[in-house]
Amino acid sequence: MKPSRPSGVARALAAAPANPADLVRSELLAVENKLTRLLDSNEALIGEICHYLVDGSGKRLRPLFIMLAFRSCGGPDEKVEDAIDAAIALELIHSATLLHDDIIDGGVLRRGKPSAFARYGFAPSLVAGDFLFCRAFELCGRFEERLVRVAAQACIQLTEGEVMEGRMRQNATAMLDDYLGVIERKTASLFAAGGRVAADLAGADAATIAAMDKLGRTFGLAFQMVDDLLDVIGPEEKIGKPVGSDLRAGVLSLPVVLACGDRGAASGDFRPGAALEGAAFDRALAIMRDPALIDRGRALAMAQIDAAHKLLRSLKPSPYRDALASLIDEQIERDF
Ligand code: FPP
Ligand code: MG
Repeated sequence: MKPSRPSGVARALAAAPANPADLVRSELLAVENKLTRLLDSNEALIGEICHYLVDGSGKRLRPLFIMLAFRSCGGPDEKVEDAIDAAIALELIHSATLLHDDIIDGGVLRRGKPSAFARYGFAPSLVAGDFLFCRAFELCGRFEERLVRVAAQACIQLTEGEVMEGRMRQNATAMLDDYLGVIERKTASLFAAGGRVAADLAGADAATIAAMDKLGRTFGLAFQMVDDLLDVIGPEEKIGKPVGSDLRAGVLSLPVVLACGDRGAASGDFRPGAALEGAAFDRALAIMRDPALIDRGRALAMAQIDAAHKLLRSLKPSPYRDALASLIDEQIERDF
């Protein structure tokens, strides 16, 4: 099932390369090479865990987004090393949060294999996450203070988003606005920081920097909404974790808030924050896979995608801008 697409987006797609990453292939290779080196540690176990999580897996969506945003804002070759380091820093922060998130969620499958938490245990995964986080800020150390502050503020929002999500697990009255508050912090904040830093490093003016921050935010919101829908759709081989993980763990996800909005939290089928098992889990999963509910979820994600395209139109036309448009569309086109 494909979403309906506004005609402006269709035009942008027509001009875009087949794969948005093609235009920044050499930059992404540089990201990969340096990222791999930064995973090494004097303590073999730390390095082993970091390589286990990061090597050869992960979509590298944040580095791709940053590199395309940098070039779309006219980022010159003389500054590309800076953009590459910023991309690596954000990927390191993202990887750190995944290690910590699996500890908090008790996540045993990550990127299609046992999570670091399942394989190495609580303390080693915790410290490896700390290590990655510190590596990121070691890299940020050479940037101007305002850029380091952007990265730090995104991290603050990540932690607050994670705690807010935990608080919502116990909240039977959580609604769409609560959900948006969580994903704005736990996912969109890092993309917003990426957009802002990329535009700043490219030498863009204040209005463009603000637009790229917003663009990152809308992109991140759409990405998380689609991720939440795929959590109930699966299949496991595709999403790299068991179907309905959010539901089972009682996470306030998009299908949960939509279903609760329809039926009321007191309907008895389920309620936000209620971890589900057995027949109750099967029943709730069936409700959340209802095509009408999935369509409504996708429409919410599509609204963010449309907002991102509007922001993109404030940039000068270029193949990089077209590639960024394609990358944005790819989020909603992940198979439903
Ligand atoms: C994954 O979401 C989790 C996050 C995007 C954020 C996690 C943030 C922390 C653990 C705070 C720690 C912060 C720092 C800076 C180290 P998800 O659970 O929806 O995704 P999943 O289904 O892939 O697990
Ligand atoms: Mg999780």
